[in-house]
Amino acid sequence: MPRAVIQGVGMYVPPRVVTNEDLKAFYDTSDEWIYSRSGIKERRWVEEPASTAELGYFAAQEALARAGKRPEDIDLIVFATLSPDMYFPGCGVLLQHRLGLETTPALDIRQQCSGFVYGLSIAQQYIETGRYRTVLLVGAEIQSTWIDYSPEGRTVGVLFGDGAGAVVVEATEELDRGVLSTHLFSQGAYARELCVAEPSSATRRHELPGSYGMRPYMNGKEVFRHAVQRMGQAIQAALSAQGWNPEEVDLYVLHQANVRIVEAVAEFFGLPMAKFFNNIHKYGNTTSASIPICLYEAQAEGKLKRGDKVILAAFGSGFTWGSAALIW
Ligand code: COA
Repeated sequence: MPRAVIQGVGMYVPPRVVTNEDLKAFYDTSDEWIYSRSGIKERRWVEEPASTAELGYFAAQEALARAGKRPEDIDLIVFATLSPDMYFPGCGVLLQHRLGLETTPALDIRQQCSGFVYGLSIAQQYIETGRYRTVLLVGAEIQSTWIDYSPEGRTVGVLFGDGAGAVVVEATEELDRGVLSTHLFSQGAYARELCVAEPSSATRRHELPGSYGMRPYMNGKEVFRHAVQRMGQAIQAALSAQGWNPEEVDLYVLHQANVRIVEAVAEFFGLPMAKFFNNIHKYGNTTSASIPICLYEAQAEGKLKRGDKVILAAFGSGFTWGSAALIW
């Protein structure tokens, strides 16, 4: 059975830096409040008009180049985003067309902050069954266009950023590296604890009062509590599947929602923070893009090397959560 291996990683973030200080232009907030509760110092926001598919395209181009692949080599595109360019169709087909491809299948997935881990699991299954050999997996988000800029929006608005990450997942016959296992979970009982409920097919457009916008809702404390517990469980599932001790994992890459969540998970396993790669201070929460952006930067900084034991874990809206164990 072939194994799925991440061959090339790419990332793209818009050049516009928005600091915590900048947010004071429309929110009653402070750098101290944001940094002490989340670890975020700044994030990137697009200049409008912008396209999530286009951000994904920039990241994909780099991932393909680093994997030594051309667009024609891709057998399947998996695009994870909660902020697509259109209500439908999804960004996958837009990216496919942008890459100059004719009929390559493109699949959009809506697993929010767990999108990359879910997407990696999809790529792994297609590769292990022998159906496809090369899968392009992209996580990309533009969140600065839908966050609520009114005073009530400050709790959510300060946390999110724009960006994209992409990986080329390839079949390999080498059995000393690649994705060893993925572990997926969800719990729809909590769907409304972190959501953007509009636009919705449950509501007729003409019945909506005022503007027809997207307004995020988040029960911050409930999300925080579940994130710590569920990411811990997901990591434990990966450790148990591989028979690994927490200490023997070289690097943990957790979805970047809040550095305090990562600290709580590290404490639960009795691990030093040095085992966890974090860059939330620079980008905020980039949802489906956060893990591939981390992989890119960890590799660039020499913290992710061939042969390393790696665990990825994510938690997000749905609730959805999951993990992956791999040898880099
Ligand atoms: N700036 C200043 N004050 C703010 C603020 C902001 N941007 N946003 C909220 N506040 C205020 C609230 O109005 C509230 O004020 P009140 O006590 O007068 O009512 C107070 O800060 C709440 O503070 P606190 O109780 O310390 O909040 P918290 O510890 O729950 O932290 C979050 C808030 C959002 C940072 C935290 O709950 C969190 O990180 N949750 C998980 C978020 C997440 O990860 N989401 C994505 C998952 S994928």
